[in-house]
Amino acid sequence: MDKIYLVGLPGSGKSHTGKWLSHRMGWDFVDLDELIEKNEGKNIAEIFGELGEKGFRKIEQKYLNVTFSYKQCVVSCGGGTPVWGNNMEKMSRNGLTVYLNTELTEIERRLEESHVERPLFSQEQSLHKHISDLNEKRRPYYSRAKVIWNRNEPTEQFFRSLDRLLSIY
Ligand code: S3P
Repeated sequence: MDKIYLVGLPGSGKSHTGKWLSHRMGWDFVDLDELIEKNEGKNIAEIFGELGEKGFRKIEQKYLNVTFSYKQCVVSCGGGTPVWGNNMEKMSRNGLTVYLNTELTEIERRLEESHVERPLFSQEQSLHKHISDLNEKRRPYYSRAKVIWNRNEPTEQFFRSLDRLLSIY
């Protein structure tokens, strides 16, 4: 198996961990949101604005399918990718799915500091409530990943365990 799919809530560290892992493994790093933005010539917020969430999810699925033909890469998914259609199942068939189960308080702290535009986060709802609602809805999908990492940061042991698993699958 020559691909890793990182899933988890926004702020769980998918991009940071993905870059770190790909560097350690000598593989490419693919950020699904960036792949979409580059190919569509629009940013994620613009796509949401023009097509709504449903339209965005179709485009997201199209580019996720594109990654299945890639070799030796770590893919950082969007927070909602696993929830749409049968994406989670397809990712698990094409690569090693890893759920970054970062603590919610840490996620909240990171998102408060982040300047990334996230269209699904509204002004009316507190960040705390939004994260716990998303977590409730998405946890059943994320939990189908083959690996669940229960720490806030990747470690050497994390890398070595994944490396071993990749040689078995
Ligand atoms: C989304 C998360 C975003 C991006 C889009 C939708 C979500 O990615 O794909 O705004 O539904 O949680 P990150 O998880 O990288 O923030």
